[in-house]
Formats: sequence, C-alpha cells, structure tokens
Amino acid sequence: MRTVIARIALAGLTAATIAACGPPPSPAAALPYQDPSLPVADRVADLLGRMSLDDKIGQMTQAERAAIMPTDLTRYRVGSVLSGGGSAPASNTASGWADMYDDFQRGAMAAPLQIPMIYGIDAVHGDNNVYGATIFPHNIGLGATRDPDLVRRIGRATAEEVTGAGQDWTFAPCLCVARNDRWGRTYESFGEVPELPTAMTTVIDGLQGDTLGGPASVLATAKHYVGDGGTTGGIDQGDTRLSEAELRAIHLPPFAEAVRRGVGSVMISFSSWNGDKLHGNRYLITDLLKGELGFSGFTVSDWAGIDQIDGQRGFTQAEVATAINAGLDMIMVPNDWPAFLDRLRAAVQSGQIPMTRIDDANRRILTKKFQLGLFEHPYADRSYATTIGSAAHRDLARQAVRESQVLLKNAGDVLPLAPSGGKIFVAGKSADNVGNQSGGWTLSWQGASGDTVPGSTILDGIRDAVAGRATVTYQRDGTGIDGSYRAAIAVVGETPYAEGDGDRPGGLGLDSADLATLQRLHASGVPLVVVLVSGRPLDIAAQWGDWDALVASWLPGSEGAGVADVLFGAYAPTGKLPMTWMRSAGQQPINDGDGKDALFRYGFGLTYPGGDPDPDPSPSPSQTPDPSGSCRVAWSTNDWDSGFTAAVAVTNTGSVALNPWTLRWTFTAGQQVTQAWSASVTQSSTAVTATGESWNASLAPGATASFGFNATHTGSNPRPTAFVLNGSACVVS
Ligand code: GLC
Repeated sequence: MRTVIARIALAGLTAATIAACGPPPSPAAALPYQDPSLPVADRVADLLGRMSLDDKIGQMTQAERAAIMPTDLTRYRVGSVLSGGGSAPASNTASGWADMYDDFQRGAMAAPLQIPMIYGIDAVHGDNNVYGATIFPHNIGLGATRDPDLVRRIGRATAEEVTGAGQDWTFAPCLCVARNDRWGRTYESFGEVPELPTAMTTVIDGLQGDTLGGPASVLATAKHYVGDGGTTGGIDQGDTRLSEAELRAIHLPPFAEAVRRGVGSVMISFSSWNGDKLHGNRYLITDLLKGELGFSGFTVSDWAGIDQIDGQRGFTQAEVATAINAGLDMIMVPNDWPAFLDRLRAAVQSGQIPMTRIDDANRRILTKKFQLGLFEHPYADRSYATTIGSAAHRDLARQAVRESQVLLKNAGDVLPLAPSGGKIFVAGKSADNVGNQSGGWTLSWQGASGDTVPGSTILDGIRDAVAGRATVTYQRDGTGIDGSYRAAIAVVGETPYAEGDGDRPGGLGLDSADLATLQRLHASGVPLVVVLVSGRPLDIAAQWGDWDALVASWLPGSEGAGVADVLFGAYAPTGKLPMTWMRSAGQQPINDGDGKDALFRYGFGLTYPGGDPDPDPSPSPSQTPDPSGSCRVAWSTNDWDSGFTAAVAVTNTGSVALNPWTLRWTFTAGQQVTQAWSASVTQSSTAVTATGESWNASLAPGATASFGFNATHTGSNPRPTAFVLNGSACVVS
C-alpha cells in the first residue's frame, strides 16, 4: 500500500499551466488507464494505445540509481531504477531510502503519461542494503530448516521492511539448485536437489502477499533462470552442460513452482546451457518459460547480462535485438542506458525487433505495475518504516537461526552445554563478528567482516546464555586455553563473499588461522565444540575426528544468538543438511543419489538427547555410478476423468549397482500422487521422487524395478518428459 499523492488527470495540466491559467478547472475525468475500477487488461490496452515508441522502450529500460537522475525519467521515460549490491543513498536510513525513491518517482510521474517507475533491489536475506534491517539467514540455512512456512513468514517480514524503505521489487528468491559447492553462490541456494528450492518458493507468497498490491506487497523475482547452479566446475556465470532432460529434471522444477505461485518477474541467468548464453536463448525463455510453463509476468536481464551474449565487452544493437527477441522484457543495463535506448530504438526501426515483441514486453511490465497498485499509490508507504529491524522481525530471524543449525557430531553428548558452572572458552574469527555471520549481500555487495550491522554475535548469545552462572573467556586465536575450562567453543569458517568472488576452484578447507586455533584448543584436551560459519560445506575430513561436537551454522545473519540457543539446549537442533557434505574437495560435484561416498549425506542431522538413532555419519561407500550410466523408463497409465494409475518400470542400463535407486521426474499439469506401491514415492509441489523400498533398494546392472502409484489430475495428464535415475538421464519408452 502506498501513500496517495493528489494527482492531476491527464489533461496536459502542469503546475506552469495552472499558474498561467488561474485555478484549475474541475479535474478532467480520469482516462481509462487511470481508472482503477476497470480490469487491468483494459487499462493496459488503453495506456499502450497512448504510448509512443520512446514511451515503450523506456519501460523496458532499468538503470542503476547512481547513473540516472529523476529528471532523466521524465525526459527519457525510463521505467525502472535499481540499487546494485550496496548502492545506497547518502543517508542509509529508512527515510533516506524513501526520499530517494520518491524523488525518482516524482521524475517518472512528471512525464505526460505519468507511468510510475518500479524500483528493484536485492533484498535476498532481509532488506540487506538498508542499515538496521533485519538480516535473516541466507538461503542455504533456510533450506536446512525444512520449514517452508517459516520461509514464507520471512518473506512477509522482508516485504514489510522493503516497503518501509520505499522499494517495491526484490530480486529474490534465488531458486538455483547448487550442484557444485565450489560455486560462490552456493549459499544463495536452498538445496542441491530440486525438491528443496521448490518447497521454499513459499517465500514468494510472503513477499507478494495474498494478492499483488495488497498491504506491503513487493514484486518477487525467481532467479536465475535456468541452470545457474549446474555449471561445470561450479564456475559462476559458467556453462551448464546437461541434456534437456537433466536440465528439466534438476533445475526447472523450482521455476515451474514459482510460476504456479504467481511470481511477478523472472531474472535470466548469466550462465550458458551447452555453450549458449541464457540471455539469448529463445527456446528456454519464450517457448519453455512463457509458453510451456505459462509465465505471464516479465523477464529481466541480469546486471549487464546482454553484454555477454557475443563474448565481447559492451552491448551492440545486435545483442539488444537478440535478447529482446529471445523474450527478455526489461534490460538491467544498468549504466549506459542512453546507449541502450538508442540501440533498442534503432533495432525496432530497422525491423530487427517487431513491434509485437515491444508491445508484449510492455504489456507484461505494465500489468505488474497496475497489479502492484503503483498507478494509484506511486509513493513510498512510510508507515512500514517502523518494522525495519523490529523486535518481532529479529525474533523471527532468531527462530530461523535456531532451526537452521545442523548438528553433525555430538560425541559423548557433549552438547547441549550446561548454562551454569565453571568456565567456557570461546575462540575463532567468527565468534564475535556479525559481518562474518551475515556473509555477502549485507550492506555491500560482497559483505564485510566486522561490526557491520546491528544485531547479536554468536559470542553475545553465549554470554547471554550463561550470564551470571558461568565465566566466558574469548580469545580469537585460542591462546590462554588450559585444562581449567569445561568446554571450548570455536567459531570458524569463511569470510564474506558474493558471486564469482566466492568461487573456490582449489581447496575447500579451513584457512590456516582457523586450523591453528583449532589445533591449539584440541591440544588442551578440553572438550571442543566447533561451529562452522560458512556459505557451503567445507572440507574438514582431516580435522573433524579431533572435535567432540560439530555444528554447521551456515550464514545466520544478524541474530547470531540463535546459535547459542542450540549450543545451550534452549532449542534442540532440528536442521538437516541441504547439501551433501564431501569427504574431500576432489569429490565435487557430489550430490544426493550420485552414489559417491560422502562424509555426511544429504538430509543428515542429529538432535538431542543422544543424537538420532540413525544415520551412520560415514555411510558405507556405495558404488560410484558408471559415468556412462543411464537408464530406461517404461511409463504407462490408466486414466479416468480426475485421476490415474501409473505403472513404471525402471531399468539400470549402467554398469554398477545403484543402492538405493532414486528416480526423479516433474509433473507439469498439477498431478498429485495419492498412494504408491513397490517404491516410496514422495512429491514436493511439482517434483516427484521414487526410491526403492528396503527389499528392492538395490538395482543391479541390467535389472528392472517396477512400481506403481495412484494420482489425481486436474483435467490433463501429460507424461513427464524427463526422468533422472541417480543423476543419470533416462531414455523413456
Ligand atoms: C548481480 C546478480 C543478481 C542481482 C543483480 C542486481 O550480478 O547476479 O543476482 O540481482 O546483479 O544486483
């Protein structure tokens, strides 16, 4: 909801006109597109009919705030402004942001058609560019919670803080399926299998609200379409080399679910698919996303993403034409927007881009602006400013921190620590460092170590947990530890990074300072609890045997006290690994079901007391799948008007036994499994997983497993187009 500013109907009335002609006549009746009682489609059609080519290409242009003035929006009709990571107004306060937003909006509203601009920002773990905002755990930790409703509530809280700062569009959630932990954006992924990001698309409901344009409704963005988490070597903006079947089975389901949930925008990935840049891929953007999945919002490029299409610096008219014709609707230029306007105009006037494509892009963009209510309420709604960093939001963040902690080791039930008695020694570079615990995309693009944002560090939480009942000593490098302490807590791991700056093509281990600290603590003989603050699993196989307890804390954000809640038993850990934990960096990529011998499997996590009865933290090494391994699926159904029975036979045509075998596919027409036999069949939104039962879990080379299930459908029951067996694409017969 935004504050309504008295507006003058489009009769060419301006302040100058009024001054020259005395008191304004009674305001002219609003034009159809200005009439909120009309259907949005009618308003769009009316407005489109009034727009010049310059009006239309302006709506398809997004500029970085530091590269454009409000008066430029008036003159050039630019329809969107963004803040790149860390691009903040001089006064980084709620009012400073809202003032800046309103300045740009006044510029847009001063143009003849008064089309409001829309302001995009990376609010990816709270409204993280705004000083004082609540910083929630990054997505990898939220995936560990396995709590989609918590994630929805985080989306709602984030939307309130974004609204309070005057913005109306966030470039979130990242729905990437991170398949190689070397990738610098692994922490932006909810998990390594499609089911987890798919389940966490609830954040879109939180961000956008029940309907776009409702209270504190913020446009969400599913990104980065598609396959960004599957690049070879985990190289950011690299090449994802997969068959279409594998791309659809592994990376598409979260986007299908986001579309089903009504996500308003989709950001296109920098990466390539089999050598072709996504920013120029008409089949994936127009045919698949907009056609097959029915995405009716608008697509936006990534930051200067079209520059990469031809592999040369800068962008050409040809690249502009390629991107727009591929189905990109808005271009995040972001700096040389005058050149973009010229090249887009020239591409249309030369016939390289048909006017129908321009009109389609404008229809999509304007529809979202109307639905958001920007035409009626174009200015910042400052009533939500009080929610920024509020106690309620920080409490929610602290709950998310608690639920995201994954207990990986607890020898002798050393955890939970007693809150009273004796002395506790705390060490490690990330024990008292809110910047490290927040990670990238915090105040700045890359984030930074240090006391960067308001909140509680993990050490703050430890001190509070034992206040008045035990003594806490903190020494970053562990010097001073001796046998008089009843426990030592070491908080170590990674320092902040974002995107390619976080790629780790070499080792994935702890740095030398952390290793020295841990060795010093271990040598003391004091029970050692290690807390890893990192954006991904780390290579710790050589060290973890010396530790008594191990907690994966991920990047918990501003409310580090939530970690202490778990360490001292105020909350028993419930987190489960969202990523397979390697035995060595050389195993990357290592993922659920690929048969590699992990240190901790996907989904592993202990709790109190005494830990899970289950999983062996070092499961017996199963066979590494034959790289040429693949499979064959026979699929048949018996359909009736609202449901069907399916019979499936999956044959292992590889050369090694698979145990357990896991077959994955995607339903694209709302099919819902109701019961299954001869396999355990689970479904998370559109993503379906079938796993062998205990008595038929192993699938030898050449063997066939048959299973079946009943399911409902909503009128059509298209066969899934792609099946993946333990990471290998299947031939469907
Ligand atoms: C970045 C990221 C993208 C972000 C955009 C705007 O390069 O790839 O996730 O939304 O630029 O900051």
